[in-house]
Amino acid sequence: MKILGIETSCDETAAAVVEDGVKILSNQIASQVELHARYGGIVPEVASRQHILAIIPIIEQAMSEAEATWDDLDGIAVTIGPGLAGSLLVGVNVAKAIALAHGLPITGVNHLEGHIYANWLTNSTPRFPLVCIIVSGGHSDLVLMRGNGDYVVLGRTRDDAAGEAFDKAARILGLGYPGGPAIQEAARNGNASSIQLPRAWLKGTSDFSFSGVKTALLRLVEGGKVLSKADGAASFQEAVIDVLVTKTIAVAKEHRVKQILLAGGVASNELLREWLVKNSSIPVRFPEPVLCTDNAAMIAACGYFRFKAGKVDGLDLDVIPSLRLG
Ligand code: KG4
Ligand code: ZN
Repeated sequence: MKILGIETSCDETAAAVVEDGVKILSNQIASQVELHARYGGIVPEVASRQHILAIIPIIEQAMSEAEATWDDLDGIAVTIGPGLAGSLLVGVNVAKAIALAHGLPITGVNHLEGHIYANWLTNSTPRFPLVCIIVSGGHSDLVLMRGNGDYVVLGRTRDDAAGEAFDKAARILGLGYPGGPAIQEAARNGNASSIQLPRAWLKGTSDFSFSGVKTALLRLVEGGKVLSKADGAASFQEAVIDVLVTKTIAVAKEHRVKQILLAGGVASNELLREWLVKNSSIPVRFPEPVLCTDNAAMIAACGYFRFKAGKVDGLDLDVIPSLRLG
């Protein structure tokens, strides 16, 4: 079963063709990072207008890379939320037009479910029950899955998402946008123990809080206590990863799961991957970096499992900018 995936929830225009939810036939991404970098963050109107320009060429490239014709497709999967309304609308409307023109079924995908399903695009299929930590620019969710499409949210951030915290810390340190990769890079030459930053453990819950560590960093920078950007980056990165790793392992043990999955843009963080693997007795898996950040292959993979479960949407499909998981 070949599915065309379309993703336009934020600042990446992406299209991909995936077979049977596991095999990538093509994966095309047009990034807007440079366009937004000068503003230090995403400008929604700029993002949606750029999607309008990029969406058709990207779909054509994905179809051509997959050597697929419209007749080869079995369905279209498109992100309906969470994300920026104007950006989501571009993808959903193009998906509907293609569905209508070629008589294809369409399914609306939750972007967060998509991030989880990037783990199905690796060498082997994940095993249930599992715990997945979704860490992206907008979310930090700990999710228990007992089967496909079955989500129990065990914890989430009470303030900033992990990626958002990385982006804000990078701005505080003058490291540019997007912050996650910039902090990871700067941290390579830094000493993480040179600056003490607090960790919000929120004991007795599986929730997270990252605004305190960001504010603590800001105060130290304002007070002239952070003399090296590299040290600031290394200390901040460790403070965030320490909490993510410790709490994820605790939840996974508590629920006696078979695997821990990493998902979302922050899942490409090398320290997070390394510490989780080193400290967990439960097997850990994660997608390759290009499948952790926003892409359409993960949307097509998730769409395949939705179609298999009979979840087909009508042409009145709408976007849901504040869509949640579970
Ligand atoms: O999943 P994603 O591409 O988009 C959303 O759905 O939000 O995640 C983007 C986030 C950004 O905040 C970015 O700074 C962060 O992921 N990120 C990283 C790394 N690569 C991307 N954070 C930490 N380390 C990284 N290597
Ligand atoms: Zn995302």
